[in-house]
Amino acid sequence: MRVNGRPVPFDPRDPQLAATRLLDVLRDRLGLTGSKEGCGVGECGACAVLIDGRSACSCLVLTGQVAGNEITTVEGLADRGHGDLQAAFVRHHAVQCGYCIPGVLTSCAALLERNATPQRDDVTTALGGNLCRCTGYQRFTDAVCDVAAARRGAAPADDGDGDGDGPVGAVGSANSDGQRAGGS
Ligand code: FES
Ligand code: FES
Repeated sequence: MRVNGRPVPFDPRDPQLAATRLLDVLRDRLGLTGSKEGCGVGECGACAVLIDGRSACSCLVLTGQVAGNEITTVEGLADRGHGDLQAAFVRHHAVQCGYCIPGVLTSCAALLERNATPQRDDVTTALGGNLCRCTGYQRFTDAVCDVAAARRGAAPADDGDGDGDGPVGAVGSANSDGQRAGGS
């Protein structure tokens, strides 16, 4: 098993470790505390990591199940080429309490890796398993569309507010509404 590009300094097939949740190994054995525990039962997405590029809840995965896989946590997203995504979240003021953000970033990174031209509905779908009680999701979506456009060399995605300056400042009305992505 490799985590953030490096082999882990233990045998993930060791029976005790193999039966330990990946989330606990990441946080307690590797000190990667970016991945958070929210519900512990696969409902909130706060613990999401990339497993071979796909977003997965690390609270539901036993370490032995991914002993031969490549894991990326939020701490490794920049090295994987997603520093621009993290910067866009800051630029779009997409972070409030921040508890959900590692999982949200991870799911958005997975989306961008499989879809270079995501539409807003695609972001909504990608974040269907990530609960955020603070932001209303619009700023996440603005940030992802902005990054996708920038990676294609296009202008930042327009936010439809008529000011032509992209998403920044466009979503105050969606702030703290507590809704899930897309308001559904
Ligand atoms: S802590 Fe894993 S989905 Fe909530
Ligand atoms: S920013 Fe607070 S839960 Fe998402």
